[in-house]
Amino acid sequence: MSKKITHDFVEKRVGWLAIFAIIAISIGGLVEITPLLFQNQTNEPVVGLEPYTPLELEGRDIYIREGCNNCHSQMIRPFRAETERYGHYSLAGEHVWERPFLWGSKRTGPDLARVGGRYSDEWHYVHMMNPRDVVPESNMPGFPWLAENKLDGELTAKKMEVFQFYGVPYTDEEIAGAKAAVAGKTEMEALIAYLQSLGTALQQQAN
Ligand code: HEC
Repeated sequence: MSKKITHDFVEKRVGWLAIFAIIAISIGGLVEITPLLFQNQTNEPVVGLEPYTPLELEGRDIYIREGCNNCHSQMIRPFRAETERYGHYSLAGEHVWERPFLWGSKRTGPDLARVGGRYSDEWHYVHMMNPRDVVPESNMPGFPWLAENKLDGELTAKKMEVFQFYGVPYTDEEIAGAKAAVAGKTEMEALIAYLQSLGTALQQQAN
């Protein structure tokens, strides 16, 4: 009886309903989110995780600029259909230095979380120039301009400093040498270096 009265009370008073709903959701949110901030599993890099080299870092920015993430996810879900096709499911510890995350969920093309080492650099080059040269049924666009555009490395050190600020273990020497490491390389070389790095930390651990 008294239960019914309480229910009637909140159901008929929108203001109170909103307040109680906010309290309930806040408690639920705190219970779910707070432990994640303190769990090593989500904060600690997996063994063998290396920060992106200057060239890989530039490649990642080109990946974002060209919108590769509109068609490719980088997150393998823990289901058999996924792990059989792509490899070990993604772990939080593989992505602790990623800003922004490129996990995504839209898969016009395959997931790329573990594409590193799956193909040769030459394969990627041919594929990126014109995907249909290696995969006849592909509807991925070609990105031939990447082979012509050259990097000057003007901003590479700055980008690394930002990541260093956020806790990525770049040394000052690595940052000082960043410009020299990328200047004159093509955007294609940078993007392929990035692709070849994807998901490899865990592969090394397994071997
Ligand atoms: C319009 C959607 C689309 C965009 C944009 C796109 N791709 Fe793809 N990609 C695909 C499709 C579809 C496939 C599968 C057919 C193939 O291999 O070409 C694919 C395949 C791939 C593969 C081979 C993956 C494997 O495991 O076989 C790589 C690597 C790849 N894309 C990289 C890229 C990169 C890098 C970019 C950005 C420069 C990009 N893609 C942009 C649709 C896209």
